Amino acid sequence: MTDSVRENVRRYYAERGRTSTSCCGPVAPSCCGPAAIPCCGPEALYPADLLAGLPEEALLSLGCGNPFVGVDLRPGETVLDLGSGGGLDCFLAAQRVGPTGRVIGVDMTPEMVERARAVARQLGLSNVEFRLGYLEDLPVEDESVDGVISNCVINLSPDKPRVFREMFRVLRPGGRVSIADMVAKGSLPPSLRENPEAWNACIGGALEMEEYARYLEEAGFTEVEIRTVNTPPLSALPEGTVFSALVTARKR
Ligand SMILES: C[S@@+](CC[C@H](N)C(=O)[O-])C[C@H]1O[C@@H](n2cnc3c(N)ncnc32)[C@H](O)[C@@H]1O
Repeated sequence: MTDSVRENVRRYYAERGRTSTSCCGPVAPSCCGPAAIPCCGPEALYPADLLAGLPEEALLSLGCGNPFVGVDLRPGETVLDLGSGGGLDCFLAAQRVGPTGRVIGVDMTPEMVERARAVARQLGLSNVEFRLGYLEDLPVEDESVDGVISNCVINLSPDKPRVFREMFRVLRPGGRVSIADMVAKGSLPPSLRENPEAWNACIGGALEMEEYARYLEEAGFTEVEIRTVNTPPLSALPEGTVFSALVTARKR
């Protein structure tokens, strides 16, 4: 199951890496699916001043939120981006941690990693690196990062508890987590859960809020919080909705 889900997801995102269209772009359908999402593409997700100065090639966004809202990154820190795709969040993180800091992007899709590496070279960034690997088996040393960010990726993993354990392993004590992700309020029908296209579109694999929080706590995280940003408040969303959430947590 793990391999077949990941292979399907990888094929889908390899194509997205080649065609270079952000969510809601002119060619591909939205990767972020329907409803309750502040859709999409970098201009809809980030303040304009953050994107200013980045070349067109850096602006591939398949995200569903802005993970920087939930974490205050400081100069000199090491940041890990899970499922770094075309690298946009890594380039933005690099601006925050500065030349004395370090940013590591991990992604399992070679087309994405190659694309992100090419843009990093073009930008002349020496503090950013992209590693090919799985979220479930991170190619990152124990207790080596200060912050973990991620944007619309964990819902795609077939083994989320394992991803959370890996996040906990690589974070230093005091490390922070800020994740933009698709999350379900209430249960979803099996027709969505079992549909590979819905999974690739970041809907079918969305965890229910309570499960998300529980898995993070079981991995050892504290101060777990799941909220909406720039969308209707959680109380206004009907049961069975998949929404763009900001998930924050800390390793003591
Ligand atoms: C929806 S895209 C988001 C990319 C990027 N975070 C962004 O905001 O544009 C999901 C990315 O996660 C990667 N991915 C999905 N599942 C993964 C896994 N289990 N391990 C590593 N990478 C994964 C895909 O290859 C793809 O590049």
